[in-house]
Amino acid sequence: MQDQNLTPLFTGLQNYIESNPTPFHIPGHKKGEGMEKTFRDFIGEKALSIDLINISPLDDLHHPHGMIKDAQDLAAQAFGADYTFFSVQGTSSAIMTMVMTVCGPGDKIIVPRNIHKSVTAAIIFAGAVPIFIHPELDNDLGIAHGITPEAVEKAINAHPDAKGVFVINPTYFGIAANLKRIVTIAHANNIPVLVDEAHGVHIHFHDDLPLSAMQAGADLAATSVHKLGGSLTQSSILNLKEGIVTHERVQRIFSMLTTTSTSYILLASLDSARKQLATEGKQLVDKTIQLAQLTRVKINEIPHLYCPGKELLGTKATFDYDPTKLLISVKQLGVTGYDVEVWLRENFNLEVELSDMYNILCIITPGDTEKETQKLTHALNVLSKTYERSATDTAIRVTIPPIPMLSMTPRDAFYAETETINLRDSEGRISAESIMVYPPGIPIFIPGEIISTENLSYIAQNIAAGLPVQGLEDESLETIQVIKEMKPFK
Ligand SMILES: Cc1ncc(COP(=O)(O)O)c(C=O)c1O
Repeated sequence: MQDQNLTPLFTGLQNYIESNPTPFHIPGHKKGEGMEKTFRDFIGEKALSIDLINISPLDDLHHPHGMIKDAQDLAAQAFGADYTFFSVQGTSSAIMTMVMTVCGPGDKIIVPRNIHKSVTAAIIFAGAVPIFIHPELDNDLGIAHGITPEAVEKAINAHPDAKGVFVINPTYFGIAANLKRIVTIAHANNIPVLVDEAHGVHIHFHDDLPLSAMQAGADLAATSVHKLGGSLTQSSILNLKEGIVTHERVQRIFSMLTTTSTSYILLASLDSARKQLATEGKQLVDKTIQLAQLTRVKINEIPHLYCPGKELLGTKATFDYDPTKLLISVKQLGVTGYDVEVWLRENFNLEVELSDMYNILCIITPGDTEKETQKLTHALNVLSKTYERSATDTAIRVTIPPIPMLSMTPRDAFYAETETINLRDSEGRISAESIMVYPPGIPIFIPGEIISTENLSYIAQNIAAGLPVQGLEDESLETIQVIKEMKPFK
């Protein structure tokens, strides 16, 4: 066992700058000396002194043998992985690496319909064929959860030649699927499981939180340390359990997608965040859970607001949850989540994580104390009183449109010639654009799919209901780009 108190990368950098080398290499600001003064003074001497790149003594993220390797090895141990790869381009590049590691042109990959745009980008880069499964919907809250083991099993039975199963776990709202079961099903067919763990870096470090991807036996997991793990924005990790996938292949693809000018500030912040998670994670998450639960109780005492908790669990898609996510349903107040987001900003200088038609999401982390959560509950109390008169007993009905038939790979659609036609005349044509409705934020069609009458009437219904329909280049939604003169094969 290695000592998780060590920070080989951060300490190595500190030792290096203490020796006070005279740099004749990039970055040309040379410890800030050549930089615009106001910015330099704001950022500070210390941060600028470690704004370095891969000169020999500092190792190289593309071929790690020294301090970066040591730091990645410690991270692998902390996260229960065989290998950990540091990312200076967020979880997006880690996700692209996962997809391109397992998929080549024409290969199938099983993915939930509500994937992050980095997955769609990787599918286009790889020339892969997405096999979509719908996430489960929560009609009361108007949000999408994860995918169920049953849906994965069905997709694998229909497509046993799939090269990967992609899972978002936990979801943005903190809901986890039975990932272990999904892994068992996929592995029984020798299919690797790739996990988008953007919103779950902390779950590995506390027993009361859902199982992490590595704990559940997944093959690859792209994990945003910067989101909830205390490192700087843009720093993430990719964890690998070797077996179906090899570390050489992951390293090669990751390197192809990564800048050669890797930021050591970001790398050092990953090293330090890993130390904090490994050595104090349990206590920090403990405190965070307590604070979040206390806040949840207080929010649920406020008339017309609802902050769901463990009562959500028990369906096929809601196996476990992360209580540090405060999803607050505002639909009974008769206002939208978007309006509440603006209202909180303008009246209380509070900024939420996200809002949709019916909800806002606030995240609680080790960076919070009761002082901040009291501000939030106070603001929500005032909100409730302010809008009391408009309060209604709204029942919402969130539906998902049928998944259209894919006529060509998203890559072929991306590179095909397109033309613009009236949306209402587009039935039977192949879409060159994506379009979605919030909630639930699931695409109605993506490039390469055949536009169907059902989907067009779904769009019309949602526009009529006043729900945000987004994605087309023509924001008036009157026209759509389709593939030129292509007859879909049916
Ligand atoms: C579910 C999900 N996956 C992936 C990402 C991409 O992460 P990053 O911003 O670190 O590239 C995000 C970002 O918000 C996300 O919400």
